[in-house]
Order: sequence, then C-alpha cells, then structure tokens
Amino acid sequence: MCGIIGMVGGDAPRFVVRGLKMLEYRGYDSSGIAVALGDSVHVQKGVGTIDRVVSVVPNGIAAVGHTRWATHGGVSDFNAHPHVDCSGRYAVVHNGIIDNHAELRDDLLERGHVFSSETDSEVLAHLFEEGMGRYGSYLDAFNYVVSRIRGQYAFAILTPDGYILAARNGAPLLVGRSGDSVFVSSDPVPLASVASEIYRLSDGARVILHAGALQILGDYVPVKNVSVRSVDLGNHAHYMEKEIYEQPRALKDTLEYLCREQLHWDLNGRIHLIAAGTSYHAALYGEYLLRRLGHDARAFVASEYLEWRGRDPDYVIAISQSGETEDVLSVLRNADGPIVHTITNSPGSTIEEYSDAVAYTRAGPELGVAATKTYTTALLALAGLLTDCDLSAVPRAVETVLRTAESEIRKYVPTLASARSAYFLGRSLDSVTAREASLKLKEIAYVHAEAYPAGESKHGPIALVEDGFPVVFVAHSSRLSDIDGNIHEMRARGASTVLVADVPSADISVPAVAPELFPIVSIVPLQLLAYHVAIQRGLNPDRPRNLAKSVTVK
Ligand code: AGP
Repeated sequence: MCGIIGMVGGDAPRFVVRGLKMLEYRGYDSSGIAVALGDSVHVQKGVGTIDRVVSVVPNGIAAVGHTRWATHGGVSDFNAHPHVDCSGRYAVVHNGIIDNHAELRDDLLERGHVFSSETDSEVLAHLFEEGMGRYGSYLDAFNYVVSRIRGQYAFAILTPDGYILAARNGAPLLVGRSGDSVFVSSDPVPLASVASEIYRLSDGARVILHAGALQILGDYVPVKNVSVRSVDLGNHAHYMEKEIYEQPRALKDTLEYLCREQLHWDLNGRIHLIAAGTSYHAALYGEYLLRRLGHDARAFVASEYLEWRGRDPDYVIAISQSGETEDVLSVLRNADGPIVHTITNSPGSTIEEYSDAVAYTRAGPELGVAATKTYTTALLALAGLLTDCDLSAVPRAVETVLRTAESEIRKYVPTLASARSAYFLGRSLDSVTAREASLKLKEIAYVHAEAYPAGESKHGPIALVEDGFPVVFVAHSSRLSDIDGNIHEMRARGASTVLVADVPSADISVPAVAPELFPIVSIVPLQLLAYHVAIQRGLNPDRPRNLAKSVTVK
C-alpha cells in the first residue's frame, strides 16, 4: 500500500528515488517526490511507474517521496502525493486515512483554501499552512495539524528550507540516521543499507528532521536485524518465480534460526490464531497442529475477529509476514489480557509492539505481492514452535519438487489458463493447501477458484462441473484413500482432474514427508502452477491488479 520515504542531507533526492523503488513491491498506482530547494519546494508526481514519474529530479537539501495505493479519490495525477498548500511552499505525503477529512475540508474551503485533489491527505497541507499563519513556527503549526486530525495515519511535511516534520498514529513510521544524514520511512527496508541507527516511532510520536538533527517527540524503539533488500532478479523473470525457488534456502534458514534460538512455545488454555489472506491459511495449519495435540485452538480471519470479543483467549498467535497488516494489528490493539505470540518475516515491524514473544521466519525480503516463501516458512515455524516434529527433511523435499515437478506442472497450465473457474480440494490438513492454492490462482492469474473440503462436492459444488472443468486434488498418501471416491465422482462428470500427492502415480508427484508436514511441500507445485498460468495469460504475477503487498488500512 502507500509508502513514505524522506531524507534531509546530501543527495536526498537520489536517496528518495532509490527508496521509492524499494517500496514498489508494496503495490502502488501513482508516485511522486518533493524536493526542498532552499527557498521553494519542487513537486513531481503522477500515475505510473516510479521510473516514469521521477526519472529526472533536481538536487536539493531534503526530499520526501510517496507511493500511493488509492483509497480516497481515484487514480489520477492530481490525487498522487505529495500534496501542497495554497502557497505551494509545503509538501505533504501521507499514509492511512484521516477520518474527519470531510469536515476539515469544508472548514478550510470556507476560509478560502483551494484544493487540487480529491484526497483526504490534502487537508494536512492546508492545515499546516493555516498553522503557519496562526503561529509562525514549524513546530506549532505541526502540532496544530496533529491536534485537528483524527484517524490512522503516518505523514511527513517538507518545508522549503529542508525541514521534515512527521507524525505517526496507527500506521508505520521509522526514522534513521547516518552521520549528518537523517531519514524517515514507512518501511524499514530502504533504511537498512544506509542508516546506522533505525528507530520505529510509537503511536502518537512526532519527529523533526533537519540538517543532521533528529528530534523525536514521544516514544520509539530501536530496530535491528533488518534485511538489506536485493532487487536483483538473478536468472528469474519475476520476483514471484525467484521467491518460489528460494524456498529451500528460506526453509533451511528458518530451521537453523529456530534451532539456534531453541524456540518452542508451550501454550495452554484457549488459543486463538489471527491472520489475514495467506497468513490466515498458515493460521489454519497452526489450528490443525494444536488441535491434534489436544489444545482448544481456533483460527480467525483478523477482520472478523471482533465478532468474537467477550470470548477472550489465554493466548493469541498472530501471523503476519509484513507485521503491518492493519486488520491484524487492530485485533492486537484491542486485545485485553491474552499473551500474544507473533510470527513475522519483518523485524522492526509494528506487530512487535503488541507482542509478548516474537518468532521470525527467515524467508528474506519477499517482493512479489503473492506470498510464497513467507507462507512455507510460516508453516515450518509453526511446526517447529508448536510440535516436536523432525523438520529436517522439509527443505530437501521442497528442493526436489523444484528440481523435478516443473515439467509435470506445465502440462496443466493450458487447461487452467483457459478455464473460467476451478476447484481445489483436499481433506484435513490438505484442505489448507487447497485454500492457499486457490488464492494463488485467483490473485495472480485472475482465474476464479474455490477451495472446499473434498467431501462437500456432493452437497452442492459438483453441480457446476461439466466437461473439462478443472479440479485439483491434494492428498498426503495417508489421506489418499479418503479422497479416491471424490476424484472418481468428479471424473465421472467430465472434470479434468489433477492430483498432487506423494505417490509416483500422482499427476504431480512430490516427495514423501510426515503427514503434518505435507502442506509445506505440496503447496510448492501449486504456487508454480499459478505462476505459469499467470504468465500464459499474459499477466505480471509480481503486480496483480488492485493488490498491495502490505495492507495497512482496514
Ligand atoms: C498473499 O499472497 C496475499 N498477498 C495476502 O493474502 C497476504 O497474505 C495478506 O494480506 C496478509 O499479509 P501479512 O502476512 O503481511 O499480514
């Protein structure tokens, strides 16, 4: 979703452009930069890629940049950030939502301000202008802005003489320093390779950056272990493909980390697992593991969790690769009493603030919007943290899939690429894989897909099946006999079936591992299948339409 990046110091515009490129993976529809030239602010912004919008920018003493994922106001050049006040002296970049923007806009219009966008964000620039008129000092004008707005936000104001004033409430914001250069960013990664110190601001904190000075007003925590993001695709055509192929390494690193830190969670009582999207599928996997061990565990889609208030658990396990998903954070913010354990791939992310214990996946940066290696490493982490399973065979099994399964997978690409819809079916733990495979196909190949427990076919969904309808089954060999009848009933109605299983006779055959670890292996060919279907359909799997990597609004 939206991203903020800013710097005060030598070469600030170049750093901001580079930082914007590092934020690209989050998903955006427009971008822009404002450069402080000493006596004025230069703004360049618009719809399209960062390369197009900010290919040439003037040098200056400070700069802020933004990637926008439209919420208030359509995708257009004038809605792109930065926004400026009536005088054009102050430029603002903003993430999140200003809840009371409509009434503020009306007030400001009444007092003669002229707006040039439909966004909620623009009120910030005009409020700052008004604050300057009233108080004449940056700090007082900034405090005036903060006092007038309600909502969940992170924003930064750039002044012509090179000040950046930034505030955070419910949306991530970090600051960093290196020598005389000071930085602000909504994502730790652009700071990782340049800043010797990085701090995450706590909610309610504000910061003033100016020529070598970083003044934080409020609470903050130091951030360590941020991966330096490589944007190198190597031999791969897309990040998604690269990240699928990185899974053996990512799994090995996660395993080593879990062993080295001797991490194991002994939980008891009522346990709720909270997550969204792919991470919710990981939560379902965790639910299965815990229930098999006799625990009272239940996985929830984070955005639905408030329905369950009043049935407070003893433990919450929150799973979020980004650590910034607002639906998950808002559950944790409102949780009253439970001990919160978190699994994330993003050291320094906001979720840590709400966690009593954090375990990291060591997937490394994931730039493709579709979660792949962060999913399999989250499953591995859950198995390692919650059970006594021997996990050592998993990385090698995934390596074998990647070495051998590609030609089998490609056979099924044309059928799925021309399908209007598909089913993904499994039983027990395999139904988690079916759900995740179906999400992958939907989000990157835009083929409608549905997953449900295989036994449900006869209770309704089989009505849609006709000649050539694709149905993908997933089954561990121990569950194969349960699914055999379901495969036959689909074939009898003309379905084009594909079986992913750990037996040589399967259509896509994968190595055998313990039944509870099978989801970590069996999803891999299905990630590749979705990837190739997207390519066949002429789509860019790294930038699926309407999606963002990090969903920081509700
Ligand atoms: C997965 O491919 C999606 N991009 C999406 O469902 C994602 O898993 C979800 O938004 C949750 O993200 P998180 O793990 O960062 O919380």
